[in-house]
Amino acid sequence: MGLLLQNGEIVTCEERYFADIYVENETITAIGPALQAPPGTEIIDARGKLIFPGFIDPHVHIHLPFMGTFAKDNYATASKAAVIGGTTSFIEMCCPSRQDDLLASYQLWKSKAEGLSACDYAFHMAVTRCDEDLEAQLRQVIDDGTTSLKIFLSYKGAFAIDDGEMYQTLRLARKLGLIVTAHCENAELISRMQQELLAQGRTGPEWHEPSRPDFVEAEGTGRFATFLEATGASGYVVHLSCAPALRVALDAKKRGVNLAVESVLPHFLLDKTYAERTGVEGMQYVMSPPLRDRENQRALWEGLATGDIDTVGTDHCPFDLAQKMMGKDAFTLIPNGLPGIEDRVNLMYTYGVNRGALSLHRFVDALSTRVSRLFGLYPRKGTIAVGSDADLVIYDTQYRGTISATAHSMNCDYSAFEGVAIEGRPAVVTVRGKVQVRDGRFVGEHGRGRFLRRDPIQAS
Ligand code: URP
Ligand code: ZN
Ligand code: ZN
Repeated sequence: MGLLLQNGEIVTCEERYFADIYVENETITAIGPALQAPPGTEIIDARGKLIFPGFIDPHVHIHLPFMGTFAKDNYATASKAAVIGGTTSFIEMCCPSRQDDLLASYQLWKSKAEGLSACDYAFHMAVTRCDEDLEAQLRQVIDDGTTSLKIFLSYKGAFAIDDGEMYQTLRLARKLGLIVTAHCENAELISRMQQELLAQGRTGPEWHEPSRPDFVEAEGTGRFATFLEATGASGYVVHLSCAPALRVALDAKKRGVNLAVESVLPHFLLDKTYAERTGVEGMQYVMSPPLRDRENQRALWEGLATGDIDTVGTDHCPFDLAQKMMGKDAFTLIPNGLPGIEDRVNLMYTYGVNRGALSLHRFVDALSTRVSRLFGLYPRKGTIAVGSDADLVIYDTQYRGTISATAHSMNCDYSAFEGVAIEGRPAVVTVRGKVQVRDGRFVGEHGRGRFLRRDPIQAS
């Protein structure tokens, strides 16, 4: 059965116009004024609403063994939350620890998604160790359709790789046509500073930020950029949080390094005073890179508006309050991460577009189109065009509400944005032409979501 969206105002990263959209067999087959549809077509009246291409979250964690525990969501809960919030595809970080086999981990992560996802999904494959057979293993991952990697310069003893391993990974990525995403903080400096703070009795969550200050992130960002320059690989800095790191990244871009920049939802709206609250209140806000001094937010919003910051993700990584309490005696034991997959679109719309910090087109670009271009999904995803997947967000700009953990669908007993007002939310969300959400309620099916196979970028 076809689907016809009538009377809506289409917004892409470049255009804004009134037209109907007709969908058949999961894809958009016609766009134009007053489209006629065969009998039996499902019709949705989008009058007074904006229609965006489905939003894509480039950075989420769902299955994640980390810091002695597991992130709380599974594919059913996370993907339901995603679509309610207007995200119709996401890219999950597949993060084996150093001891784990890369291919076995890749299969394990994929198996966690099968049959459960309400939206489409892909993976960034983390390289956490360089074995002799790394190239052969990566070739198998590529054959399966995963063409982006993840490396960590931080989390010493867990995910971190050293400079030699970074060099090898980037060389291989260049050869095989892979883009490498990177967590850029200096593992050694953080480890030393953490131990010094603990030895001084500085154990609360307020010491998390001082243990990994902005210059530690700027150093990691600069080193990653230098290694990209040396190897000719394509890179993507994840969750860039502060002005000094942004300056370093932009310097690299200017001198021709193939580097894209992502910042994530919490860093635009929250600051380090949240983690300075006492007890578990503060622990809720421990993530890495840490929430920063509010001054940095201006640089992030400006960078986003101009496109210097390419994309906005969430780094969704929920741990509940009991898990956060694992760090009650030492901030180094607080599981790092915040929930957010459900909130990115509404909060960036409210505090970006509605507050005049972000144009509507840049909003679509940063949260959808540029993600799809960078990670090999365009034009299947990230736009509204004939032939594209019918991932559509019919957006009600008149909606007014408040975020609360009591109402969200993420499997987490707190919200990092509790009590924050939103001005707009998806009225209807379709995933490849199937209505998955109506008026904030999930009405679709788990298992609708598919693994997204991607091609390598031009290999050399
Ligand atoms: O604090 C964070 N960001 N947790 C998730 C792991 C990572 O570094 O992305
Ligand atoms: Zn990270
Ligand atoms: Zn992350």
